[in-house]
Amino acid sequence: MYQSIREPPAPDRDGSAPALPPTRRTLIASQPINPPARLLMGPGPINADPRVLRAMSAQLVGQYDPAMTAYMNETMGLYREVFQTENEQTLLIDGTSRAGIEAALVSMIEPGDRVLVPVFGRFGHLLREIAERCGAEVHVIEAEWGTVFTPEQIERAIIETQPKILAVVHGDTSTTMAQPLDELGAICRAHDVIFYTDVTASLGGNTFETDAWGLDAVTAGLQKCLGGPSGSAPATFSARAVELIDSRKSIEAGIRSAGDEVSATPIRSNYFDLSMIFDYWGPKRLNHHTEATTMLYGARECARLLVDEGIDSAVERHRMHGGAMLEGLRGLGLSIFGDTRYKMNNVTAVYIPDTVSGDAVRGELLDDFGIEIGTSFGPLHGKVWRIGTMGYNARKDTVLTTLAALEQVLRRAGAGESITPGGGVAAAYDFYADQSAEADFAASVAL
Ligand SMILES: Cc1ncc(COP(=O)(O)O)c(C=O)c1O
Repeated sequence: MYQSIREPPAPDRDGSAPALPPTRRTLIASQPINPPARLLMGPGPINADPRVLRAMSAQLVGQYDPAMTAYMNETMGLYREVFQTENEQTLLIDGTSRAGIEAALVSMIEPGDRVLVPVFGRFGHLLREIAERCGAEVHVIEAEWGTVFTPEQIERAIIETQPKILAVVHGDTSTTMAQPLDELGAICRAHDVIFYTDVTASLGGNTFETDAWGLDAVTAGLQKCLGGPSGSAPATFSARAVELIDSRKSIEAGIRSAGDEVSATPIRSNYFDLSMIFDYWGPKRLNHHTEATTMLYGARECARLLVDEGIDSAVERHRMHGGAMLEGLRGLGLSIFGDTRYKMNNVTAVYIPDTVSGDAVRGELLDDFGIEIGTSFGPLHGKVWRIGTMGYNARKDTVLTTLAALEQVLRRAGAGESITPGGGVAAAYDFYADQSAEADFAASVAL
């Protein structure tokens, strides 16, 4: 809360009190942080897993404390499992997911490089914009929102534009679509293209395999299926990407030793210079930024959660609860946006009924039930809501509660005619029952 108060004026040099400018304001922290209870069922962020919050309340240690460097090494190992990779350079970039994207792109792009960006939603536009700011000659192909590209379309564009880098979003949260990537690695190798993807929205909730799919650079975030807060961007880089990045290595003047590299074309950002960040996370422990210790504790716990559960089991959990949400929304009588064959498991876009205001319904859900669902961007703004079932919130109770609350709010908003009473919760229950019958059958066959 801000209060306009007058601070006691600091004495002037001669000891007299100076006149205070009348506009001067001081921030008074009147209350400790005590956020309202919310169930975050939007496209992220979602409620953090309590294990992650506990890890983040641990005391700090020094930057080079053996405990800290051990945590850094463990974090690298854990994320190799999460990303399904053997890449040595698997680490955290400090900052939100977009910091990971910027670090990858600014470290791989030299001004004038050609970059191909297939855009099928808002975050493809973000890749394009960041690549342009890095000085790339960016070529874009666009797919209608709610659809994805075929591998043939992307290969044709690669042949036409001959890029150095293909930069594509895996799951674009704005449309809920996941671009199939499994065939693109081989295409990129055949045309000698570096293959980068942003898995912020998809990692942990959808099948993703860095090495098997031939990816060179991958960046993520914690605030979706990984069950953490935003603020750390796990990332991984293949030997090919590392070679490219290290070819521009320029060690900072203040810590440079005789014989250290000084590139004629250094990476255009110091903070996001991956060649220096690799040396900070590697055996040299060359000083760069001060690692965000509390975020590292959180990111490490997010990976531990996934590895403990098993990556495949986590993906299956997202498939199951995402499926129940989808069927529940259909059961309510609502229509789903986009080509659902390519929908991410963890988020569903649903058309807003014509008779209601999307923002008013979202507002009432938040005020009366403490449940947040998402709005949307660009061509979808005002047309669809986005409802997530991810990370800590990919659970049966959250799905059923959200469907029940949405039905009540829609009826109060005047959409009763188009809503099937009880249909959402019933359809979700049916979906769960079918899933457990299938699981029982599979278990009996396996015996
Ligand atoms: C696919 C995707 N990429 C990038 C971002 C940007 O993430 P951040 O806000 O953590 O920087 C988001 C955020 O929702 C996202 O969904």
